[in-house]
Amino acid sequence: MPKSLISIHDFSRDEILHILDLAEKFEKNPFQPVLKGKIVACIFFEPSTRTRLSFETAANRLGTRIIGFSDAGNTSVSKGETLKDTIKMVSNYADLIVMRHPLEGSARYASEVSSVPVINAGDGANQHPSQTLLDLYSIRKTQGRLDNLNINMVGDLKYGRTVHSLLQAMSHFNPNFVFTSPEELKMPQEYKSYLNKLSIPYKETKELKDCIKESDILYMTRVQQERFTDAIEYERVKNCYSLNAAMLEGCKENMRILHPLPRVNEIATDVDESRHAYYFEQAGNGVFTRMAIIAYLLGQ
Ligand code: CP
Repeated sequence: MPKSLISIHDFSRDEILHILDLAEKFEKNPFQPVLKGKIVACIFFEPSTRTRLSFETAANRLGTRIIGFSDAGNTSVSKGETLKDTIKMVSNYADLIVMRHPLEGSARYASEVSSVPVINAGDGANQHPSQTLLDLYSIRKTQGRLDNLNINMVGDLKYGRTVHSLLQAMSHFNPNFVFTSPEELKMPQEYKSYLNKLSIPYKETKELKDCIKESDILYMTRVQQERFTDAIEYERVKNCYSLNAAMLEGCKENMRILHPLPRVNEIATDVDESRHAYYFEQAGNGVFTRMAIIAYLLGQ
């Protein structure tokens, strides 16, 4: 089976650092068509702006050609074709598959039936490892290091796949976590047990104001409306936090606000002008990081 990126656990600490170093090289020289002749398939069964477009930009800059779809309704899935058959077909056509799918575990399954590497571009509430690598890249770029940082994750920690992957990746680097969420959206027990096993400290709070001052990274997230089965529950928590510029008073000079985006109302637009806001640059870093992931999985 070719090496795929399905969970952040698929990459060791050394591989993660290698990807970040490679991404740094691509940032210095973003036009490197080292994969001319290759074909990358981007198949998205769920909506996306950043992930799909930054993967396509990354593949273009590496010189590959791109095939794929962003609406499975226009494919033979609508005639009843299974995920297994779809992946077997696409792996006949492309050298690497980037896939987003709403079902948890679908990306792992795809990698098991594919003859080419698969990159998980998000599988339900489970994992989003390429986002994690660009988050790590953004953290290292803004903090000058990955070790010994105070990471405050805020918002939907239950359904937010980006925080799940990031928590696991940061566990290599001796972090100190704060989990800020309403009761209904707390970090799932399996992730807290994982930290307990590694003796990594974390604190849980419902109050956003509690821990902003100690944070090096304030990792904001959107309440994931599409994962709720109960509309009333979503209505109850949808406006749980709204960070505004006044709340940043007294925070550490090096503190940076990250958000995987899209945002809804959890970050007020007056924060955009703050020197602490980094979420748009973070999304830009996605191109270099995804160039590095594609190049690494295709052996460059
Ligand atoms: N961060 C992220 O996954 O954004 P998209 O849903 O727009 O791809």
